Amino acid sequence: LAAGKGVVVTSDVEEAKAHAAGCERVVIEEFLDGPEVSLFAVTDGETVVPLQPAQDFKRALDGDEGPNTGGMGAYSPLPWADPELVDDVLRTVLQPTVDELRRRGTPFSGLLYAGLAITSRGVRVIEFNARFGDPETQVVLARLKSPLASLLLASANGTLADLEPLRWSEDAAVTVVVASHNYPGTPRTGDPITGLAEVAAEDAPHAYVLHAGTKQDGNTVVSAGGRVLSVTATGEDLAEARERAYRAVARIGLDGSHHRTDIAAKAAETAETAATGA
Ligand code: GLY
Repeated sequence: LAAGKGVVVTSDVEEAKAHAAGCERVVIEEFLDGPEVSLFAVTDGETVVPLQPAQDFKRALDGDEGPNTGGMGAYSPLPWADPELVDDVLRTVLQPTVDELRRRGTPFSGLLYAGLAITSRGVRVIEFNARFGDPETQVVLARLKSPLASLLLASANGTLADLEPLRWSEDAAVTVVVASHNYPGTPRTGDPITGLAEVAAEDAPHAYVLHAGTKQDGNTVVSAGGRVLSVTATGEDLAEARERAYRAVARIGLDGSHHRTDIAAKAAETAETAATGA
């Protein structure tokens, strides 16, 4: 947290000690050795309806290098994850959390976002947020076939127990964030964005552009923030969704912008290996 400042993650005890010696107060946390997963759930304070899990990419550069960001891309589903993951997290994390909040007289309804690490010792909760996550939401909602509005209304009305089970597309979804020059440092803004009409004409409906840090300047759309666009695509599998997303990204012009080229790359390979048995 706090842009990773003051945090050292290491398997070297001496490095940990040296860092701790330079700090006034020290918090030591369990080392989490597995991949991260974001799992969102909608609750009305009693019933908890989990969505599909997603994984985001927090570092700015390929290969998980470079500084932390708000998220440079995401994908769903997770071909490498245990098929029981969602049920397990619902049973061991989400439902007990919602039940305990209610028991304490502070009931919670809305969107509960569990940031998880799948470690060799089991699932660990890194954080909770009371909001959708970005950019995971782009891929989770791309796969949701049930109307989102009905889900949110049932959460607000306390009727989630009566809601039909959510329907999900079998398709995979990938989103790639196009970020401004210098992001995650102070981003340069005001640069014209080109290619939006070409994506709409050539790549829709499988690929599309979601605007984040943009604004209209006369007849031109210009950058207005660090993470400018999320280019999202669906496909029969992660490989196809990736290909479509990156084809659309290639049409976008934004001077000085950068994006990761490896979003969902490893997961797509895992899925292919599982499918071919190779
Ligand atoms: N993707 C991380 C977050 O939304 O906090």
